[in-house]
Amino acid sequence: MTLTKRKFGHALRHEFLLEDGYVPMNHGSYGVCPRSVQAVRHEWQLKAEQNPDRFLKFTLWPELDKIRERLSRLVHCDRDELVFVVNASFGINSVVRSLSLKQAEKVLVFNTLYNAVDRTMAYLKDTRNVQLVMIELAYPMTDQQVYDTVKSTIDREHAKDPDVPIRMAMFDAVSSVPAVRFPFERVIQLCREHNILSVVDGAHALGQIPLDLHQADPDFFIGNCHKWLFAPRGAAILYVPKRNQALVHPSVINVSYQDHSVDQSSSTFCDEFAWPGTIDFTNFVCVNAALDFRESLGGEEAIHAYCNKLARQGGELVAKKWGTHMIENEEETLTVAMANVQLPFENKAGLSDAIITRSFFHKLIFDHHTTGQPFKHNGHWYLRLSAQVYNELADFEHLADAGLQVCKELDNQQ
Ligand SMILES: Cc1ncc(COP(=O)(O)O)c(C=O)c1O
Repeated sequence: MTLTKRKFGHALRHEFLLEDGYVPMNHGSYGVCPRSVQAVRHEWQLKAEQNPDRFLKFTLWPELDKIRERLSRLVHCDRDELVFVVNASFGINSVVRSLSLKQAEKVLVFNTLYNAVDRTMAYLKDTRNVQLVMIELAYPMTDQQVYDTVKSTIDREHAKDPDVPIRMAMFDAVSSVPAVRFPFERVIQLCREHNILSVVDGAHALGQIPLDLHQADPDFFIGNCHKWLFAPRGAAILYVPKRNQALVHPSVINVSYQDHSVDQSSSTFCDEFAWPGTIDFTNFVCVNAALDFRESLGGEEAIHAYCNKLARQGGELVAKKWGTHMIENEEETLTVAMANVQLPFENKAGLSDAIITRSFFHKLIFDHHTTGQPFKHNGHWYLRLSAQVYNELADFEHLADAGLQVCKELDNQQ
């Protein structure tokens, strides 16, 4: 295939269904699906409707096998180590609720985990009586500082309770807020050295950073296809290396369920995840069209390079206009395709965090036709700004003016 070089930025807006006048700066939350992928989805939905039995009993499965094969090449693993799940939440719940954690065993968690993942871990604590060991990160930190913090926590916990194992650690590949790349490869290695199962929340990873799962070798990895990879909402993958497949079952049990606790060499992993009950499987099938679209843009490297550069330049532009700064360390390893810029906001009116978050969203969406993700970290308010192939610096300019105005309005509120 000959690739013609495509112009990124607003020249690509017509490839998406974004409404006129809307300045999308929050790709990281829900993704935005290209027109061409939506069209393919409609074709598959039609095919499914024309003969549901043929589609769901026969046509679908070889198609999904082909796509898992293609995805496995993208993330560097074997096809049968990957299954589709509807979203990262389902994948993470499936893993952590399957593991036979015992009372008082320890689980490492971070203050930067996604809010629903944090609650999933709280659920584990409440139902299994495990001990959650919270690791507090205050960015900006270097990768070495993050690594050292994790290591010293492990050493401290082992010294405190030598007989209580740390069974599992839950951490991100790229965290949600702040949106920073986490040195997950090194932390996976550290976990392995201490016999701790590593569960990596890669909800933001596919399509945003290059991945080599065999090289990184996590015990479990979950990644969304509907955020940065351009699939329709409701498509994600769960990676489980063969050695761990007997340990995990989907959150929704189906007809293929088998207990492997006695013979861990057998596995029904792929079959158990293949049918999560009746759903619209066309989201999964569309991952192929999403990958075609990405190739038509020049492929992963070209997309990452554009988005990373724009996030950094755009973030710096906004920070300059606001007289604040981006979250970044000296080695510049934190920012990928999302910038975290401190808001010029002092909360003079003493508003609650929930009101502040909701007001930012509401004002940005309805008054300024844009949005970013507001969040509080280490006592300060920030806005997370996503850079995607359809964005340009002008979008960051628009957001900067809008954000400034919202800060003034909230600070002047009586
Ligand atoms: C880091 C992280 N983990 C998990 C999730 C949950 O993803 P989903 O809603 O697709 O299940 C998100 C969603 O934004 C996220 O940012």
